Amino acid sequence: MAKTYIVGNWKMNLNVGESSIYLHKLLKRLKIARGVEVIIAPTTIALQPLSLQIDRKRLKLAAQNFYYQDFGAYTGETSISALKGIADYAIVGHSERRYIFKETDKDINKKVAAAIRNNITPILCIGETESEKIFGETKDVLRDQLIGGLSEVSLEDLKKVIIAYEPVWAISSTKGARLAAPDDIAASVNIIREQLKALYGKAAEGIPLLYGGSVNPSNAGAYLTIPGVNGLLIGGSSLIADHFIDIIDLAKRVVR
Ligand code: 13P
Repeated sequence: MAKTYIVGNWKMNLNVGESSIYLHKLLKRLKIARGVEVIIAPTTIALQPLSLQIDRKRLKLAAQNFYYQDFGAYTGETSISALKGIADYAIVGHSERRYIFKETDKDINKKVAAAIRNNITPILCIGETESEKIFGETKDVLRDQLIGGLSEVSLEDLKKVIIAYEPVWAISSTKGARLAAPDDIAASVNIIREQLKALYGKAAEGIPLLYGGSVNPSNAGAYLTIPGVNGLLIGGSSLIADHFIDIIDLAKRVVR
């Protein structure tokens, strides 16, 4: 049975105390869901205290960001090796990192490799901007971001990678964000699956592919049933425990 992934990306929200209160509330209602992997990505500073509070059978942690060197003179950075035993997953290449913090495909590629090297599963985010979509560049952008992000990933390591498709224009932090139609997402999912197949052949079929962008309890069911989609990466709605739980419940019902 293929797993369904429900990932909450809290972005730069909830301080340590608020994160702990949220988690307490979540754990009260969260049952072991066979076939559904529930993951939350709090701020870096909250990862360690939350790691002592979670029950890993029900919930896993993801880092939102890290530096690709394992140690050294990199003032202010957190290495992925420092997150070993704390986080099981790490978001890499989120559009907010690409466009606000100017991360390049080269940086992202090194981060994907560093995560794999440290036994932490990278969730590689890709997605086109509004203008790239308008100019018909979606296919090229997705291809370039996949090739860029995965160029150091061997066929053997492919099973340690998750891809998340997040069209930048559909992310609620984006000015004027709008909801992506399931047909739009399905078209991009096909492009991504084709490209992965071109890169890795049949082995690519098993790569989990998530969708993210203004997901909420009302649209999550429709997004989860798009063929080729194996889960959701949720921003704003994941900050409301009741909404996040509602989405997890929906995922349990559509488990493949
Ligand atoms: P929203 O769900 O707030 O649109 O955020 C999506 C996202 O960027 C998750 O990584």
